[in-house]
Amino acid sequence: MKTQVCIIGGGPSGLLLSQLLHLKGIDTVLLEKYSREYVLGRIRAGVLEHGFAKLMREAQCGERMDREGEIHEGIYIAHDKGMDRIDLHKHSGGSSVIVYGQTELTRDLYEARARMNGKVIHNVEDVTLHDLTSAAPYVTYREGDQIIRIDCDYVVGADGFHGVSRKSIPKDVLREYERVYPFGWLGVLSRTKPVSPELIYARHERGFALCSLRSQVLSRYYIQVPLEDSVEDWSDEAFWEELKRRLPDDVAARLITGPSIEKSIAPLRSFVAEPMRYGRLFLAGDAAHIVPPTGARGLNSAASDIYYLYHAVVDHYHKKDDSGLDGYSEKALARVWKAQRFSWWMTMLLHRFPAHIPYDQKLQDTELAYLLSSERAQQSLAENYIGLPF
Ligand code: APR
Ligand code: PHB
Repeated sequence: MKTQVCIIGGGPSGLLLSQLLHLKGIDTVLLEKYSREYVLGRIRAGVLEHGFAKLMREAQCGERMDREGEIHEGIYIAHDKGMDRIDLHKHSGGSSVIVYGQTELTRDLYEARARMNGKVIHNVEDVTLHDLTSAAPYVTYREGDQIIRIDCDYVVGADGFHGVSRKSIPKDVLREYERVYPFGWLGVLSRTKPVSPELIYARHERGFALCSLRSQVLSRYYIQVPLEDSVEDWSDEAFWEELKRRLPDDVAARLITGPSIEKSIAPLRSFVAEPMRYGRLFLAGDAAHIVPPTGARGLNSAASDIYYLYHAVVDHYHKKDDSGLDGYSEKALARVWKAQRFSWWMTMLLHRFPAHIPYDQKLQDTELAYLLSSERAQQSLAENYIGLPF
């Protein structure tokens, strides 16, 4: 089999890039380890920067997002003295975010690929990248007892944190930067009316909590839990009681609880791999970087990678201009690290750290007090939350 760009990974990054390149007449083959149903069964965050939303529209996949997604112009920060609203719209000069579940977004991308007869191959095994530093790289994968070979011009590693692509870069070339946080997020999805029309990020002495949503009938809640906790430790009732303890009384009083339709614990980590290019291999999305979900930057960091890579590949084929490809890693990492900074800052601001000494605690109290008292500090939060420019 031959193609121009072989994309590893059928998550949002790989699918969006495949769709965008297809619309520019560039041929791709996308290899996904699992079935479409399995991929769509993952519960992921749901806050989209305006830059990501623009890319979805350019990919002709924005129609349901624009119809069903909710425009959010602010977030709340709850704390021991009450709750303050950060006016994202005002502080960002009129911008906003769209709340639309990543699962739905991934579904829209799969449906677009199928509608346009995109080559998406599921349940591939033993994907292996070959001759990445040559002018003729190729990818092999196993299908049953057959080894299939795909010759291509470029390989895009959009296969997430546990994928094969990053691991295909030699250890003496790859540099990895990581911070693991001493807690996780226990998340619950429930078919209940959300407690608030906008997201509530709660800082509490018992630990962080977040009130989010997928729609007006589907709520998403999180509480910070110790790393050693497991989902089995948390009954629905125990979760709801703990969430209420961490919210302002009036919010807790109107919280509508219900059975969890999904409940899971996710660890929090900050991670960046450099460079994001090795020969004819380009990394994008979670394959190259991970953020703690506090700043809702996960999918949005992937968006700028896809934006840069899309334009670089088009310039290569349409204009024989390789400056985008040659500059990709440096340009993508510049924005990736700004998303890392913001996600780290939100995480440090809002969570309870077991190892914090009293001075650290006072510093955290002061960071929040400064944010809530300074329009400029809120402008900084807003420009990062709605998304820095690509
Ligand atoms: N071969 C083929 N596919 C693979 C392999 C492999 N060896 N390893 C992993 N994959 C697939 C996974 O099954 C997954 O569907 O690659 C895909 C990677 O998708 P994501 O992990 O969703 O990463 P990405 O597309 O970059 O999206 C980033 O999704 O995971 C969230 O928090 C993340 O919001 C962020 C966004
Ligand atoms: C979510 O809705 O899952 C969500 C929203 C905002 C975050 C993290 C998760 O910062």
